[in-house]
Amino acid sequence: MSIPIQQIAAAVDADRLWTRHMTMAKFGALPGDGVCRQAFTAEDISARRQLLAWAKQHGYAAAADAIGNLFVRRPGVDPALAPVLTGSHMDSQPRGGRFDGIYGVLAGLEALNALDTAAAETQRSIELVAWTNEEGGRYEPGSMGSMVFSGALELSECLALRDADGVLLEDALAAALASTPGIESRAFNFPIAAYLEAHIEQGPRLEAENLSIGAVTGIQGTRWFTITVRGDTGHAGTVPLAVRRDALQGAVAMVQALNELTTDVDDIVKFTVGRFDVEPNAPNSIADRVVFTVDLRHPDASILMRLGDAIPERCREAAPRCDLEIIETATNLPCEFDPAVVAAVEDVARELGLGCMRMPSGAFHDAQHINALCPTGMIFVPCRNGVSHSPAEYADPKSLAAGTKVLAAALYRLAS
Ligand code: GLV
Ligand code: MN
Ligand code: MN
Repeated sequence: MSIPIQQIAAAVDADRLWTRHMTMAKFGALPGDGVCRQAFTAEDISARRQLLAWAKQHGYAAAADAIGNLFVRRPGVDPALAPVLTGSHMDSQPRGGRFDGIYGVLAGLEALNALDTAAAETQRSIELVAWTNEEGGRYEPGSMGSMVFSGALELSECLALRDADGVLLEDALAAALASTPGIESRAFNFPIAAYLEAHIEQGPRLEAENLSIGAVTGIQGTRWFTITVRGDTGHAGTVPLAVRRDALQGAVAMVQALNELTTDVDDIVKFTVGRFDVEPNAPNSIADRVVFTVDLRHPDASILMRLGDAIPERCREAAPRCDLEIIETATNLPCEFDPAVVAAVEDVARELGLGCMRMPSGAFHDAQHINALCPTGMIFVPCRNGVSHSPAEYADPKSLAAGTKVLAAALYRLAS
């Protein structure tokens, strides 16, 4: 028997949701409300164990797949049907905040709890998923868990990766899997009926419009590159400029050239150099090696491809004396979400009396990869000043609860 979605929304416990956020924020807490909980670290492992402890308290079965994605199941009336999935990620940026990713996981858990409280039966099971390594700060690419799950990336390629300290992903993953013993093993790419991910907006629009809910229409594309520039080291006080092969000067010239390539008066192209490693990194030695990253984004696939494809030549021209190696570490094409899922989010928000607008996502999310497998959508909630990937990231308890109400009600409809 169907129950009104208002009853499900009313069962969302805003205090429990907030308290769980604050509990998770302790795993990797940094001064000033920041969080450092990168994939497979001790802090990530603590979050994994905490999530499964909460799942167990509520009697939900848990499982993990071979890349460490965690699944928590609220059974449906017909367990043989493909489940509806919800979730996000628990890893953070190296200097991230308390809400990016973890909100989607905790909102999903709270949605399962609210359905229990409201005694709402669903035909399909609903599964909460915590995707592995969405951020990609320790091991690239980001969205690794959902990419491996969906078949966009091979597990074997990931296992061979090393972090900045030389730790093999295979070993870090084995430790994470060993930390949650006794749960079922899950295959990749099992059939899914629909996927809905809640996330903070990470931008300023909902707050500016004084709206509670973003019905996300799609995600812009991203390309990541790792660019290694090589020259010759030598004495800063003696080597004539004319014969230098200065890798740092070369890299700076490349960044300048790429700034010119990506200049966009409309501010749609997004170009970021977020990592810059210099060797030997001494004031009086000429640099012989620089590694920097490029994060390039655009909502139009053809523009994204054209700009990204121009990067090698622009870099070579900018510093012809240096040697250059460019590796593309991630290519996420723009995606559009399923119109029926977007409409379901909007309908539920309206029926619950919550202000809602359609909007695209500037950030990438695991939903981008699951979109290839099943009807997919996302729910955004506002965050203060639009700040994210920063310790200053903040979303208030009421906003988090509002998004969770929409999530719980929409999951109920999708699974019924
Ligand atoms: C996700 O973390 C992104 O960088 O968009
Ligand atoms: Mn995120
Ligand atoms: Mn993020």
